[in-house]
Amino acid sequence: MSRRRQIYEGKAKILYEGPEPGTLIQYFKDDATAFNAQKKGTINGKGVINNRISEYIFTRLAHIGIPTHFIRRLNMREQLVRQVEIIPLEVVVRNVAAGSIAKRFGIEEGEMLPHTLIEYYLKDDALGDPLVSEEHIAAFNWAGHEEMQDIAAMAIRINDFLSGMFAAVDIRLIDFKLEFGRIYDGDYSRVILADEFSPDNCRLWDFNTNEKMDKDRFRRDLGGEEEAYQEVARRLGVLSGED
Ligand code: C5P
Repeated sequence: MSRRRQIYEGKAKILYEGPEPGTLIQYFKDDATAFNAQKKGTINGKGVINNRISEYIFTRLAHIGIPTHFIRRLNMREQLVRQVEIIPLEVVVRNVAAGSIAKRFGIEEGEMLPHTLIEYYLKDDALGDPLVSEEHIAAFNWAGHEEMQDIAAMAIRINDFLSGMFAAVDIRLIDFKLEFGRIYDGDYSRVILADEFSPDNCRLWDFNTNEKMDKDRFRRDLGGEEEAYQEVARRLGVLSGED
């Protein structure tokens, strides 16, 4: 007895058919994975918190003119979003060296980068999401030239805005991952922000203690991931639990 059609199940979210054409329901799970799903677990209540944090951030981004797929939150774990044709790239923005860039280039974690970097990874689990250049993106037509210009401009704008927003609550925005999708209007298409923004896909460090407040707590077995996610929500003034 299925009440609606599942369109896609990812590692942390499920997409269901929405109530109207062109819409989907995005459901946030408590499941957590790392290292391309080699490590699996759950973070109790994560889905509820991430639904709230992502709602808050996408709403704030819409206020500064970033087009997003978010329409409205439906309940504790679900939000109504616009259906997009996902662009198969993970767009990573980095302010401070951490994670794979620190490892790849032998840079100390926590070192400020000379300037903000944007990296593109091909969204392909089987290949382990390889780092790709803009030349690869153009050659294999994963996104068009104008689309890439829009994506880079939005990524920088989002970084500037969110760095300030987090700094205001004593959090350093170290890096984050974005995904974009196309929506069609007749023969034309435009790119909008899709997916989510939560501690699952960014690095957030406490300004004073450098304590990690994101999924690295799970990846590195540091413990306290539930409390860390809750603390991010609390500082942003995003309530969780009640509806
Ligand atoms: O692992 P790496 O240092 O490349 O991750 C950069 C940023 O992108 C981190 O904030 C991480 O949480 C995010 N990311 C993600 N999904 C991936 C890979 C990275 O959300 N598949």
